[in-house]
Amino acid sequence: MDCICALKTRRSVRAYTGEPVPPEVLRDLIDCGRLAASAVNIQPWEFVVVTEPRMLSAIADATDYGKFIAQAAACIVVLCRDTKYYLEDGCNASENILVAAHAHGLGGCWIAGDKKPHSETIRRMLGAPEGIRLVSLLAIGHPAEAPEKEKRPLKDVLHWEKF
Ligand SMILES: Cc1cc2nc3c(=O)[nH]c(=O)nc-3n(C[C@H](O)[C@H](O)[C@H](O)COP(=O)(O)O)c2cc1C
Repeated sequence: MDCICALKTRRSVRAYTGEPVPPEVLRDLIDCGRLAASAVNIQPWEFVVVTEPRMLSAIADATDYGKFIAQAAACIVVLCRDTKYYLEDGCNASENILVAAHAHGLGGCWIAGDKKPHSETIRRMLGAPEGIRLVSLLAIGHPAEAPEKEKRPLKDVLHWEKF
């Protein structure tokens, strides 16, 4: 799948077949995440790949809108050192990972981390140091659904030269 096609066809997938995702594919997703742009190339990110079913369930239970993480093959937790642009940087890496997952034929969904009460709980569960920020939880698995999503048309959002 080429990059433009992957960007245009990625959708959030919240139902998974249960088939495992090979570690080398998960590794490649992190490789795509760590190559994202970051402010002054500070690369504040750390990635925790969770595949152990009990930990997936514990993470799912801690969230409000991420219960489907329990059925995912993996949950990639994107954490960042608390730098000035940690949120932009961590979000950039997160989107890279989701698009790369789609290009690998996988489904994924972003579950909010930053500013959520569960971000501290999950940081501690994973043994990440205090002060590190949890930016996102990315559920990854083989898709068991192909959701459609209403998107604002290009003509409504594109402004040439002035707003
Ligand atoms: C910052 C952010 C937080 C999100 N949090 C959740 C969440 O907690 N649970 C969930 O099911 N989806 C979450 N999503 C996924 C959005 O609901 C989804 O991206 C949106 O509905 C657009 O659909 P699409 O991803 O298929 O284009 C989040 C997405 C972003 C970017």
